[in-house]
Amino acid sequence: MLFLNREDMKKCMDFDRCIAAMEKAYRIFYDNSFVMPHRPCIENGKNTLLYMPCFIENSFGTKFLTLFPDNPSKNKPMIDGMMVINDSESGETKAIMHAGFLTALRTAANTAVMLKHLAPEDAAACGIVGAGTQGVFQTAFTCYVRNIKTVYVYDTCLKDGGKFASDVENLLGRKVEFVFCDNVETLVKNSDIIITATTSNTPVYPDREELFKGKTVVAIGTYKPHCRECPDALVKAADGIYVDLDFAKEESGDLYIPLREGTIKEDRIHQISDVIHSPEYAQHKAGKTIFIKTVGMALFDIVCATEIYNAAKAKCIGTELEF
Ligand SMILES: NC(=O)c1ccc[n+]([C@@H]2O[C@H](COP(=O)([O-])OP(=O)(O)OC[C@H]3O[C@@H](n4cnc5c(N)ncnc54)[C@H](O)[C@@H]3O)[C@@H](O)[C@H]2O)c1
Repeated sequence: MLFLNREDMKKCMDFDRCIAAMEKAYRIFYDNSFVMPHRPCIENGKNTLLYMPCFIENSFGTKFLTLFPDNPSKNKPMIDGMMVINDSESGETKAIMHAGFLTALRTAANTAVMLKHLAPEDAAACGIVGAGTQGVFQTAFTCYVRNIKTVYVYDTCLKDGGKFASDVENLLGRKVEFVFCDNVETLVKNSDIIITATTSNTPVYPDREELFKGKTVVAIGTYKPHCRECPDALVKAADGIYVDLDFAKEESGDLYIPLREGTIKEDRIHQISDVIHSPEYAQHKAGKTIFIKTVGMALFDIVCATEIYNAAKAKCIGTELEF
């Protein structure tokens, strides 16, 4: 069994490989050639355990993810866990790897794929709301797929802006200008692409439609029906609303609440895999207001983890262990 820690995994993946892995995952999703249940979300007070199994052709596995919101105050990551890959012939455990790193990587690569298809090609400014672990990866991958010159950052508890900037630049391998905002409105006004990567349970933006006109907004936080990062104004302003997984409509309050309250109708929500594989969706790009809600899925994890495993084997990276 191959054991891969964070450093091993870093050596195995680059931007293009991660993005290609997510494109492959969307192809599998579109072709319906996978087996994946809705993920059980087990809550104990503030803390959550997500259990994310998936079968694809020639591979299967499970991601066990813990989300402990008090961890950052103890200098520990909010998200942790383990990804297990099994042998598709025998079921034996083939590899275990760091699920926190995998999650940040595949979630950011997923955003990159969605932006490639839906964000204006000339986007030059990006805004990141929530400068935590996901924020670093989301920013780097956004700067990779669009020629972003300025990154606007807003976080209600920003600990170290300099560290955030250097973490992004180290991952990206180039310099960008960072502007740390003292309010979210300044960020929204100045950004073409805006990404919300917070642990907030209530909308992080003012409920004003005009603020979002012509923007591409991606919301990656909230995966619980009673929680939302985005106000009604965003779904009302949007020319197109997109999800990675249909289940997002039930799982996340960002869509569940406006759907339940009748603010939007279900037929306004489209699947990203249809956008990627149907050319008629290309019209949504220029000058439009786009809202993308992503909750992630186990299919992303197994495809990305399998790519990492294959790269590690080819490069002789990692430690062989026996049970
Ligand atoms: N869609 C997906 O596939 C996916 C994958 C991984 C994580 N997530 C979600 O992404 C979110 C962020 O995860 P993380 O690992 O980066 O957590 P984190 O704790 O490292 O970072 C969250 C940041 O958000 C900030 N924040 C909280 N409320 C805010 C507000 N109202 N305005 C501005 N900033 C605010 C916090 O100060 C913190 O810096 C979580 O909700 C997590 O569940 C989604």
